[in-house]
Amino acid sequence: APSDPGLVARARAAKEKLGERVFVLGHHYQRDEVIEFADVTGDSFKLAREAAARPGAEYIVFCGVHFMAESADILTADSQQVVLPDLAAGCSMADMAAAEQVAECWDVLTEAGIAETTVPVSYMNSSADIKAFTGRHGGTICTSSNARRALEWAFQQGEKVLFLPDQHLGRNTAVRELGLSREDCVVYNPHKPGGGLTAGQLRDARMILWRGHCSVHGRFSLDSVREVRERIPGVTVLVHPECRYDVVAAADQVGSTEYIIKALEAAPAGSKWAIGTELNLVRRLADRFAAEDKEIVFLDRTVCFCSTMNRIDLPHLVWALESLVDGKVVNRIEVDAETARYAEIALERMLALP
Ligand code: 13P
Ligand code: SF4
Repeated sequence: APSDPGLVARARAAKEKLGERVFVLGHHYQRDEVIEFADVTGDSFKLAREAAARPGAEYIVFCGVHFMAESADILTADSQQVVLPDLAAGCSMADMAAAEQVAECWDVLTEAGIAETTVPVSYMNSSADIKAFTGRHGGTICTSSNARRALEWAFQQGEKVLFLPDQHLGRNTAVRELGLSREDCVVYNPHKPGGGLTAGQLRDARMILWRGHCSVHGRFSLDSVREVRERIPGVTVLVHPECRYDVVAAADQVGSTEYIIKALEAAPAGSKWAIGTELNLVRRLADRFAAEDKEIVFLDRTVCFCSTMNRIDLPHLVWALESLVDGKVVNRIEVDAETARYAEIALERMLALP
C-alpha cells in the first residue's frame, strides 16, 4: 500500500529540521515506507561500519532490529545516541542464545577439556551479552558477508570453533567454504544437559554449532527449490546462508543481502531469479529490476515477512524523529559500559578481518 502522504510529509519535515544531527540507517529488510527515509541502506555489516563512520551525528536512528542498534551503540561515541523506533523489533534467532545458556555451554566445554582450544565466533545476530562473551574468550563476530574469513581466522587461533547462534550459517560456511565434513560439526542444544553431547563427541568435533536458526529463512525447503525450478525453467536460485544446508546445497548461489543485490545488478537482461531471503527486499528488487527485464520471484510464496523487521513502520519512524525535534530521545538503545567494552573487542576483530 502507498504510504500515508501526511506521514511522509511529517517524516520529511522532521528530518529536515534535524539536518546533520540525525543519521538514519536502514537494513535491506525494512519496509519501503521506511527505506525511503534512510540516509544509507545496507546489510548488517555495512550498517555497522556506516554507524561507526558518522561521528558528527548526534542521533543514529536505526531502522532494523535490536541487535543491530546495540552494535551501532557499541561502535559509536558515548555522546551519540542510538534510537530504535520500535523496541519490539527483536530477532528470534538472537533470542535463541541467552547469556546464562552460553556461560553454561562454556562450562561444559571446560569440563570436556576443550575450552582452551575453542574460539567463539558469534554471528552479528546476537545480543550484546553474547558479543561480550565472545570478546572475553578471544573470539570474533561475523556477518553473513564475512563468515568465511571469520572462521579462517578462528581456526588459526585454535583447534575448534563454537559458532553462535545460527547453526545453518555455521554449517554452510564450514562445510561449503572451508571444506570441513558434516561429521566435523556437532549441534549443541542449550535445552539439554551437556548440550545433548558427550565429552567424546565434543572432543572429536571441529565445529560446535549452537542450536539456533532464523524462523524466516528456516522455512525455505528443498521443495521450495524443486518447485520453483519446475515452474520457471532456467531460473537461478540465490539464497541467504541462513537457509538450511540442503536448501543452500540445492541452490545455485548463496550470499548476504548485499551480495544478492550486487548479483542482480550484474545479471543480464532476460535472466530469471528465485531469491530466498526476506520478502520486503525481494519485492523491492523485483520492482526495481522489472524495468531491466530481469524476472525476480520469491523462492517460496508460503514464506512471509520477518515480523520483527516489519515492526519498524512509518508511524514509529515519524514518532521517533518528531520526538528528537522536540528534544526528547525515545527508545534509546544503550549497552552498559562493561558489556560494551568486551563486545567492542569482538566487533573490532571482525572489522579488522582481512
Ligand atoms: P545480512 O547480514 O545479510 O544483512 O542479514 C541479516 C539478517 O538478519 C538476515 O536475516
Ligand atoms: Fe532475525 Fe531472521 Fe528476522 Fe534476520 S530475518 S532479523 S535473522 S528473524
